Amino acid sequence: MKKRLLSGIKPTGKAHVGNYFGAMKQSVDMYESNEFDCHVFVADYHGLNFIQDRHVMRQNIIDLVKDCVAIGLDPAHVTLYKQSDIPEHGELTWIFDTLTTMPYLMRAHAYKDAEAKGNEISVGTFNYPLLMAADILLYEPDVVPVGQDQKQHVEIARDTAQKFNNTYGETFKLPVEKVLPAVATVPGIDGRKMSKSYSNTIPLFGTKDEIAKAVMSIVTDSGADDEIKIIQNEGRETEAFVRPMNLFRIHRLYRPDYYELKDLYLGHQNKYSILKEALIEDIDAHIAPMRAKRESISDDDVKSILSTGAEKMRALAQAKMADIRQKIGVTL
Ligand code: ADP
Ligand code: TRP
Repeated sequence: MKKRLLSGIKPTGKAHVGNYFGAMKQSVDMYESNEFDCHVFVADYHGLNFIQDRHVMRQNIIDLVKDCVAIGLDPAHVTLYKQSDIPEHGELTWIFDTLTTMPYLMRAHAYKDAEAKGNEISVGTFNYPLLMAADILLYEPDVVPVGQDQKQHVEIARDTAQKFNNTYGETFKLPVEKVLPAVATVPGIDGRKMSKSYSNTIPLFGTKDEIAKAVMSIVTDSGADDEIKIIQNEGRETEAFVRPMNLFRIHRLYRPDYYELKDLYLGHQNKYSILKEALIEDIDAHIAPMRAKRESISDDDVKSILSTGAEKMRALAQAKMADIRQKIGVTL
């Protein structure tokens, strides 16, 4: 029996190279390991905290599903669905709301960060972890792969399951997060963390021209100290200088053979445009087959993939909710 894996991705914008190497690729690797029965969903109701334009939301959902399939989550084997197709997620969230105190949720990092920024916090942002708990607990997964930033949310799901079980009797399996190995933060073209919010991304599925434009604007004037640090981190070598750092760090994602890449960089010191050209070619060679795959997926294909996924997951969610309603005493 394979273990059940469940994970969600918010449809909050065009996927970039940082998302791919930092998060999306890990799901593909786990799927390809053949050890897991994989369920990956579009967390569109979570995304509603960030996207409040119906055209953008719709497009983001479609794009995200195409991205997932193109990077290798084969819908014939991986269940792909969206949260909003399964009303039980919202229903269970409400039940969890009634079991959870405000001071408890105020300890969540995401809430504390938003508060520290002085933002006015929506109820949806405050309640985000309980919707995530419902996403998870409805399906009793064995593993929930998440990035470090989401670890606390899975802990909240676990606490919530425990609270429900204590109150109403054994109902939920306690979920366990699988914190993905820390993938070094992918730098953006300005040297800060690559992020949609900094507009410093290399689009994952960009055309060759778009990729070239982004790569050509990677800043190359960073200090030498950082460059040495990278090599020391490698644990094998301590002296060579590799410049420019940002370019090198992005390039390494595409050429895992560190020594080969180091030689290329040492052989072309200060010839940044040659190095950038090499990176453009490497990115393009890596993405071309995925881009072709992505282009072959129509919007109708996406709808059909999601509707098949929803049907399968809805059956599980409905059965679980029927038990939950019994347990809380609303079924007469
Ligand atoms: P963004 O910062 O572009 O808005 P998200 O916050 O939506 O990205 O992140 C989605 C996933 O991609 C998360 O799991 C996050 O850890 C990962 N991720 C985002 N940016 C990077 C990056 N620069 N390097 C590594 N992983 C990243
Ligand atoms: N909160 C997650 C993120 O921001 C997305 C998510 C929503 C999720 N529900 C989930 C991840 C359930 C794993 C399991 O990345």
